Amino acid sequence: MPTADPVVSAIAEKYRNNPTYVLQILRETQEALDWISPETVETVAAQLKIPRTRVQSVLQFYSFLYDKPRGRYRILFADNITDRMAGNIALFEHMLSRLKLKRGEVSSDGQVSVDLTSDTGMCDQGPAMLVNNRAIPRLTMRRIDEICALVKERVPLEEWPADYFRVEDNIRRRETLLTSIAPGVALDAAIARGRQGMLDEIKRSNVRGRGGAGFPMGTKWEGARNAPGAERYIVCNADEGEPGTFKDRVLLNSFSVRVLEGMAIAGYATGATKGFIYLRGEYKHLQAKLQREIDEMRASGRLGASIRGAPGFDFDIEIHMGAGGYICGEGTAMVESLEGKPGRPRVRPPSMVQVGYRGKPTVVDNVESLAHATEIAVEGGAHFAKRGTRFSTGTKLLSISGDCERPGVYEYQFGVTIGRVLEDCGAKAISAVQIGGASGVLLTPDDFSRRIAFEDVPTAGAFMVFGPDRDIFEVARNFAQFFAHESCGFCTPCRVGTTVQRNIMEKIAEGRGSRYEINELKRVVAFMQRTSHCGLGETAGNAVRDALSKFRPAFERRLRAKDFEPAIDLERALEPARRITGRDDAEAHLETES
Ligand SMILES: Cc1cc2nc3c(=O)[nH]c(=O)nc-3n(C[C@H](O)[C@H](O)[C@H](O)COP(=O)(O)O)c2cc1C
Ligand code: SF4
Repeated sequence: MPTADPVVSAIAEKYRNNPTYVLQILRETQEALDWISPETVETVAAQLKIPRTRVQSVLQFYSFLYDKPRGRYRILFADNITDRMAGNIALFEHMLSRLKLKRGEVSSDGQVSVDLTSDTGMCDQGPAMLVNNRAIPRLTMRRIDEICALVKERVPLEEWPADYFRVEDNIRRRETLLTSIAPGVALDAAIARGRQGMLDEIKRSNVRGRGGAGFPMGTKWEGARNAPGAERYIVCNADEGEPGTFKDRVLLNSFSVRVLEGMAIAGYATGATKGFIYLRGEYKHLQAKLQREIDEMRASGRLGASIRGAPGFDFDIEIHMGAGGYICGEGTAMVESLEGKPGRPRVRPPSMVQVGYRGKPTVVDNVESLAHATEIAVEGGAHFAKRGTRFSTGTKLLSISGDCERPGVYEYQFGVTIGRVLEDCGAKAISAVQIGGASGVLLTPDDFSRRIAFEDVPTAGAFMVFGPDRDIFEVARNFAQFFAHESCGFCTPCRVGTTVQRNIMEKIAEGRGSRYEINELKRVVAFMQRTSHCGLGETAGNAVRDALSKFRPAFERRLRAKDFEPAIDLERALEPARRITGRDDAEAHLETES
């Protein structure tokens, strides 16, 4: 094994010893050394000339960085609800038994650890796992046996069969976005319109952000363009951490020209000269391909100085890898992460378009939003606005998973009914659909005539289907676990609320719940929604709230006592005290006190 110093020096020098890149440096160092030891922390701090505590805070924040040995093969099974439905736990337990391991434990030879993680963006082809952040979808018992054999024989990951790592696009329906535009065409169209003209077309299109909130893209771009100062940034939000969402994965894999040129067009219209793609760690398999595309764009004059010969149109793009953390998808947390800090949401105002990356005006846009910019550059805003509805123009990608015959990515004009989508994906006798992921809404057949649109059912794209035999309590429980794991801990309502919510759901699952717990759940959900600092906490109770209101019997049948069941057994808790004091008389027992 190489010693830390030369490895760290080489990686840090690649990043010009710039502390802003500390997360990237730690990530790459871990790839080389398998974990980040206290000595490595010291070396990184010394090399970057920053306090050790700063390195430590980054190391501890990101779930894919390890401050303890985790083995040469670090295996994480996706534990999203759709992975559960596809049988991930049986596969997980099979692997633990084959490798004679307990969950999270490192094998005695220091080779392998096996654990669970949240969603990996592979819900259309689960169950899935990550091995050293490389995704392996479509797991079966046989594949698990093969992987165990490779691990036992210590075969390097690079020599594992390439087919294991094949991630399918699963495109099932296309309109205008899931089609290619030849390289350079959208850039030329934008240049022909001029900077102000391009911005006007974005505004005319009424295109709204596809990352969830639906903020008008033209207003955001104009805000950044008009903000004081000469330096501006574009950030492409490719964190895609919402359970059940995977459409950005497909855009980045097969339509990267549109995404990257969309970023350059955003730079042109706003005056930004630098762009970042914040790519979630789980999408490591896309990193090299995207980098090749960026290099090719530079070589062909589609990135760099005077793009396509247009004087002053200078723009370049850099990939920044995430390292685990759903919260980093939140725009301000993402910018913190880009600056080499823990990804904690900022206090707003000021908005990102005023004070963003390194204090400069910054546009954070979703992958899908940026890809739409190429379409608007080519066909104009008015034409774009003809598709969809009045308040939700254009098309929307849906990531469909769960109980349906054809999971995958579907493109529809806004305004499509939920019923139509269910029909297209081959979903029959459905009892519920979770739209918008864990933070979204749970809809039942009465709602299936409702429409996918910002004015009716808004969504960033997740569309999870649950058949008649699914236990919706388990769905809500899985989401409650997700939020307790993903809360960044910055504010008390969310840090405590998500844990309390998870614990109550566990208590009910164990058959120890009562009406008291149901009321507590309602209280916690309302409290988180009202008082949390960011969208994560505000929406962390949505799934439990909806499940409670629409599937109450799924909770009721688990309740043992109807009124109250204490969370701890006080009589048992007094046992150590009795032992220490040597008492066992009647008065040392609770029952006699009443
Ligand atoms: C907890 C949390 C996670 C988020 N994750 C993502 C994400 O993975 N991708 C995304 O585009 N937006 C995500 N967002 C929304 C972003 O904060 C931001 O609104 C969006 O990137 C803006 O781009 P848009 O206007 O193109 O939608 C998230 C928000 C929250 C509160
Ligand atoms: S709401 Fe949750 S995720 Fe957001 S800042 Fe507070 S603790 Fe962090």
